[in-house]
Amino acid sequence: MSQTTQPGGNDRIIELHWIPVLAGVFVALLAVILTFMLTRAVTPPDAPRAAQFEGLGGDFALTSHDGEVVSLADFRGQVVVIYFGYSFCPDVCPIHLSLLSAALDQMPSQAGRQIQPLFVTIDPARDTPAALAGYVSHFAPGLVGLTGNEAEIAAVASAYAVGYSRTEDPDVGGYLMMHTSAFFIIGRDGQMIDLLRPDLTPTQLAAALRSYL
Ligand code: NI
Repeated sequence: MSQTTQPGGNDRIIELHWIPVLAGVFVALLAVILTFMLTRAVTPPDAPRAAQFEGLGGDFALTSHDGEVVSLADFRGQVVVIYFGYSFCPDVCPIHLSLLSAALDQMPSQAGRQIQPLFVTIDPARDTPAALAGYVSHFAPGLVGLTGNEAEIAAVASAYAVGYSRTEDPDVGGYLMMHTSAFFIIGRDGQMIDLLRPDLTPTQLAAALRSYL
């Protein structure tokens, strides 16, 4: 893929990329974990799993890679997997989207059709619908890329407790974005039901996705 690091300067780019990304992921996940701990403290252990994510997530309307307005509610009745990232991401996003694609690929087609993967950009300045259309075509066949204006993206990211920020980096001829990397799982009723770390194997992720159907 053209977004991957060029041969030669690999080490430096990855190093510069990973430090802010890891810092951003750490801070963002810490915020999410703290929210869960606070919620769990007042939630009986046998409460429905979705209760752990109360206050996180929710409906949104953004512009798809086809240029159409798409809302989360359009996928009611399906299990939705949302990943926040950006198409210029040199390493992390392609790895995680490949993982998601591989997991979906492993699932029986009937189960796979009940799962809708969404890629929400946190870099709307560069991720136009046209840019996203080219990008999502590299991954799972049903993957929908979503973009919007800065305020729309900020509102969705905030609702899902996704952190992101911009780091100027002349080595990549522009800037990198650090961002939270996780799979947000939305149940058939539109409520957030789980948050998965993206370091699972495709088989583990496929098993987790099947458990939500
Ligand atoms: Ni990324």
